[in-house]
Amino acid sequence: MKQQLEAIKAAADEALRAADSNQLIESVRVRFLGKKGELTAILKQMGSLSPEERPLIGQLANQIRADIEREIAERTAEISAAESSRKLAAEKLDVTMPGTKHPLGKKHPLEIVLDEVKEIFLGMGFEVATGPEVEYDYYNFEALNIPKNHPARDTQDTFYITPNILLRTQTSPVQVRVMEKQKPPIRIISPGRVYRSDAVDATHSPVFHQIEGLVVDKGVTMGDLKGTLAEFAKRLYGEDAVVRFRPHHFPFTEPSAEMDTMCFACGGKGCRLCKGEGWIEILGCGMVHPKVLSNCGIDPEEYSGFAFGLGLERIVMRRFGIDDLRLFYENDQRFLNQF
Ligand code: PHE
Repeated sequence: MKQQLEAIKAAADEALRAADSNQLIESVRVRFLGKKGELTAILKQMGSLSPEERPLIGQLANQIRADIEREIAERTAEISAAESSRKLAAEKLDVTMPGTKHPLGKKHPLEIVLDEVKEIFLGMGFEVATGPEVEYDYYNFEALNIPKNHPARDTQDTFYITPNILLRTQTSPVQVRVMEKQKPPIRIISPGRVYRSDAVDATHSPVFHQIEGLVVDKGVTMGDLKGTLAEFAKRLYGEDAVVRFRPHHFPFTEPSAEMDTMCFACGGKGCRLCKGEGWIEILGCGMVHPKVLSNCGIDPEEYSGFAFGLGLERIVMRRFGIDDLRLFYENDQRFLNQF
């Protein structure tokens, strides 16, 4: 029986050494110390021993039980220590490591100035109106008093989808669309992309942006036009911005003018920026032609209005000293990150 006990001890030792999880240790405990375990089975045979042997074997059995219990406790502790250091290593977090950077997008320079211009006109009670870039010939030309064969069509040649559908050359068609739908008073600006079949160079692109404005109400005069646009120039360029109006021609306005600002680089003396002129052209404008009003169902005897249009790219180029318009469309990060 002594040998049996020692064999059990040896088997338990070996099983424990092999057990590498709490679950396996528990199965070792059941196998040797459980109610139906191997050691318990031996102890049940104690009755067959002689009175002299009984205390000796009993002592040995108790000793072995205690040893196995101690070893189970030790092995359990070992395994949980290994387990928790494995976990710690896996979950280690170095709070001094640099974090993952998520670079923030930025506004495109065209968008920066467009937002400023919008802000200025919204502050003067204008609303923003938009319209389609693929437009009917009627809205882009005909309704604006530019019939087929009108020479103004030469300077605004564009891309035709069908003989009657084209990529708009100006945002003026939005004015027509608004006037058709809305009774005066009307006070809108219409910013957007426009197209002309121009070859690409430093100052030309077949795609560019315009911001147009339209005011229609009873008793609107050229004085309102000048006051509004001079105020716009002040808010865009500063209180001391000086403007002048030069007579011009647009088929959809009468009279028409172009507005210049005095060159802020040389104060009107003439320099490289203003090409010796002393003045820089900012926009085209005029009183809405009576024909355009009646084309849109507005009675020119009752209402009058003014309109203006400016090229966004040119204003942004001057603002930031950009000398090549192509930079706006190339999406070169080295350029865009400067704004
Ligand atoms: N749409 C004109 C152009 O592209 C600009 C303009 C708009 C002029 C409104 C006067 C009034 O040339």
